[in-house]
Amino acid sequence: MGMLAELTHRCPLSCPYCSNPLELERAAGELTTEEWLWTIDEAADLGVLQIHFSGGEPTVRRDLERLIARARERDVYSNLITAGVLLDRRRIDALAAAGLEHVQLSLQDSRSASADAIGGYRGGHEKKLAVAGMVRAAGLPLTINAVVHRQNLHRLEELIDLSVALGAERLEVAHVQYYGWAYANRAALMPTRDQLDRATDTVEAARDRLKGILGIDYVVPDYYARRPKACMGGWGRRFVNVTPVGKVLPCHAAESITDMTFEAVRERPLAAIWEDGPAFERFRGTGWMAEPCRSCDRREVDFGGCRCQAFALTGDAAATDPACSLSPRHGHMVALAKSESGADRRDFVYRSMSRREHFGRGSSAVLRPPADGSGSPEK
Ligand code: SF4
Ligand code: FES
Repeated sequence: MGMLAELTHRCPLSCPYCSNPLELERAAGELTTEEWLWTIDEAADLGVLQIHFSGGEPTVRRDLERLIARARERDVYSNLITAGVLLDRRRIDALAAAGLEHVQLSLQDSRSASADAIGGYRGGHEKKLAVAGMVRAAGLPLTINAVVHRQNLHRLEELIDLSVALGAERLEVAHVQYYGWAYANRAALMPTRDQLDRATDTVEAARDRLKGILGIDYVVPDYYARRPKACMGGWGRRFVNVTPVGKVLPCHAAESITDMTFEAVRERPLAAIWEDGPAFERFRGTGWMAEPCRSCDRREVDFGGCRCQAFALTGDAAATDPACSLSPRHGHMVALAKSESGADRRDFVYRSMSRREHFGRGSSAVLRPPADGSGSPEK
């Protein structure tokens, strides 16, 4: 169904919930233009319908237009997932002319001070607002991606209004997933139960009010769920991820499962890796499951939940996702959510961005949440 093409791990932002691996791939190891072009061809031959060009920040790649043009030639729908801060009108027009069909733009918050602090990029929020206008002016449909957590969830209503004002057709309200870098920042990010309940009410009211204007995707965070989500629609069923160096993953966070290895498009054709690669076979279907999933009537509904989360919380990627109340570890997860959502921690641990060298003299700067507390739920 879909391929996430992670063109690069380079990114001018340093969000404390980034799902990219802790060890980032360097620019020198990235697939070349030619390698991405034949990977797109292989994806089209395999039957992939949509390619999501992502990163890191995919617009740092100068060959993005060529890759999008190839997807268009092969009748594959192309979507750009971007932080937006490196874009200008000329580049957006060039991407549209190459055949780009949709843009997903991330917003870190509804207000500049907090948004720039969360993304670690001074001036980023204002730039994003301008870029949203350029995207619409180029005639491209726009989705806003808003990652929500304890330090911005109380401004969800503002985020919804801002998305409407920017002309977005969809808003994805994505709760932080606690693996990768977000795992280190759980105590600063975990929402309270009360915040979550209010956010759910806000979304339901907005969906009614904005019918036909703004579609809102919203999923309850795992730490407060009773049943897990069917992560990736099931491992190795619909989705393939290609990393900057060409590793083929069943999910974008799969490298967080440290006892697995992954084949690369430089070694074997994409179709072969998809069909019988050991990483895809390991959790495909239901045969790998132990109890309680093995005999559960939801095993082909949620496929046992998220493998990355199971590994992060239990050390065993084949365990039932602790988000499920039938998991023996569910109580531990509930206790964790309770204690961490009540933690008095607001500072983020930012990823060390030694690779900022790739962006020259950009305005990138590590910030802290506003000292006046405007990033805290009480204000
Ligand atoms: Fe899903 Fe497994 Fe829980 Fe059943 S026991 S609901 S299959 S995670
Ligand atoms: Fe990897 Fe859920 S994020 S399986």
